[in-house]
Amino acid sequence: NNTFSTLFVGQNFIKLKEVDSTNNYLKILASNSEPLPEGTVIMADNQFAGRGQQESVWQTESGKNISTSIYLKPSFLPLNKQFYLNMAVSLAVAEALSDFLPSPVKVKWPNDIYYNKKKLGGILIENTLTGSTIKSAIVGIGLNINQEQFNGELANKATSVFQILHKQVKLELVTEKIFVYMEKYYLNLKSERYSFLQSNYLNRLLNFNSPASYLQNGQVFEGIIKGIEDSGLLIMAIDKQTVKFNFKEIEYIHTK
Ligand code: BTN
Repeated sequence: NNTFSTLFVGQNFIKLKEVDSTNNYLKILASNSEPLPEGTVIMADNQFAGRGQQESVWQTESGKNISTSIYLKPSFLPLNKQFYLNMAVSLAVAEALSDFLPSPVKVKWPNDIYYNKKKLGGILIENTLTGSTIKSAIVGIGLNINQEQFNGELANKATSVFQILHKQVKLELVTEKIFVYMEKYYLNLKSERYSFLQSNYLNRLLNFNSPASYLQNGQVFEGIIKGIEDSGLLIMAIDKQTVKFNFKEIEYIHTK
């Protein structure tokens, strides 16, 4: 019931009209029917309890956007390299969307998908460990595709493919691209091409090597992103000093 030109991503494809969260659904499926084939995909027209990073809520307009979760088994990945899965997924999504848009899609550290300094989508990866190996990873991807407008504070912070192109695109076309690139980057990860992933990621990174304003504990500062550690820590130059930041320690300031 699918036509994805991939080896495994999306070959077991489950399409739902509505679900609380595709990540939740996939998690339950994986625990009930093991072994679940690697690359199994859940896709929903609508999520009524979509989840975002840091316990946030992920809201999406029914039928307009992409809400999908991919089941992977990166047991080959050492725990201290976990962040490379985030890099691989962010790269795949950004590259797939770039095929539809006039200029390159960016990744905002650690794994937000950005265009014109606005959020086009997000990624929520949930790993299950056994001892010190990653048993499975549920890779949740939410992308604003055909949504025409955003309300409240999202109006300034979010964007969609529709807002950029002023026309609707077929969700299936974008999904197909995402799965193809997902497989490509995942196979690179499996082949331990860490420096390839790292340099691609830095090339995609919003504000890499260019000064920008950030917010930490209510204070604004200017910094230049210089790199990423294997663990995912952000390396920044601030007044010629090197400072490292953990996830969510700083916030990028949106400028209109
Ligand atoms: C974020 O930027 O906060 C991450 C958003 C991730 C949303 C996706 S939509 C599909 C999958 N199911 C969920 O409940 N969340 C992810």
